[in-house]
Amino acid sequence: MSPIQLTRTLPADATDAALRADVLHGLARHPKTLPPKWFYDARGSELFEEITRLPEYYPTRAEREILVARASGIAAASGAQTLVELGSGSSEKTRYLLDALPALHSYVPVDVSESALRGAAETLLAERPDLSIHALIADFTDGLTLPDTPGPRLVAFLGGTIGNLLPDERAVFLKSVRSLLSPGDALLLGTDLVKDEETLVAAYDDAAGVTAAFNKNVLTVVDRELGADFDPADFDHVALWDPKREWIEMRLRARRALTVKIPELDLVVPFTAGEELRTEISAKFRKEGIRGELASAGLTLTQWWTDSADRFAVSLATAV
Ligand code: SAH
Ligand code: AVI
Repeated sequence: MSPIQLTRTLPADATDAALRADVLHGLARHPKTLPPKWFYDARGSELFEEITRLPEYYPTRAEREILVARASGIAAASGAQTLVELGSGSSEKTRYLLDALPALHSYVPVDVSESALRGAAETLLAERPDLSIHALIADFTDGLTLPDTPGPRLVAFLGGTIGNLLPDERAVFLKSVRSLLSPGDALLLGTDLVKDEETLVAAYDDAAGVTAAFNKNVLTVVDRELGADFDPADFDHVALWDPKREWIEMRLRARRALTVKIPELDLVVPFTAGEELRTEISAKFRKEGIRGELASAGLTLTQWWTDSADRFAVSLATAV
């Protein structure tokens, strides 16, 4: 048997049903919204990787700096036999953890993007032929069950992706992560931190337009999967900082009044000129907020590390 197992925890038609439900509900409401998980088809995953290399997009570099400095401490504190990674994408920064865990038994990357999972698993296997890789195509917000691999487990959720969940979604999600942890297991969480508006907005509205293309890619996904006739050129990319809720909001703003047909849903969606569709929030955090959200889910913050410019934090938490 190949040491890479790729498991789909939901049948492909369930993914299709979830997209239909999200588009139907999200485009019928005011303001219109779509959940960010639909950005990540193969093209969206590639565009995200391009974003991570942009000069304006500091989170990946800041988190990498922390992992380079702290991976051996994290490895020693966790003693992990299994590394589970939620929203693993390319698993690029995970290398630092894997290098610090030479006796690791299993790596369980979990992602909705099959292309990202395949690419990451194949590259990793070439480097670590000893490692059992059990990749899960799954939605980490939807009743995740993990394969039976040896503990202790370290569950990593890097990149600041937790910030793409709304506060009430985060509360439910953190409780579900807590329920996956046995005594001796730990959660390793990457969170982007509150900072000045100029830096934040530039990170989500880069000069080269890569984030704009990533944002508009969700329309291409809906066109392809549901036969819709969104024209991405009819929309402008918008990135706004909400200082009250301390999150960046990405939106797509209609450049003119238009209607979009979505035949697979038997739906016609009107947009007024200037109407905005919210495609993502990216919440930014403070230490006490993180500590409180973890505590509400039955998790204790045990370690907190930031990069040298205090832009990003990685924390370790254990079950209470
Ligand atoms: N952890 C990587 C990738 C972050 S991009 C890094 O730090 O660079 C966010 C990743 O989460 C993408 O690969 C995307 O496909 C995945 N993702 C987003 N929503 C998801 C969900 N609900 N369930 C599983 N994966 C999800
Ligand atoms: C994956 N996630 C943490 C990214 C973020 O920064 O919120 C997604 C992203 N959206 C725009 N640029 C990057």
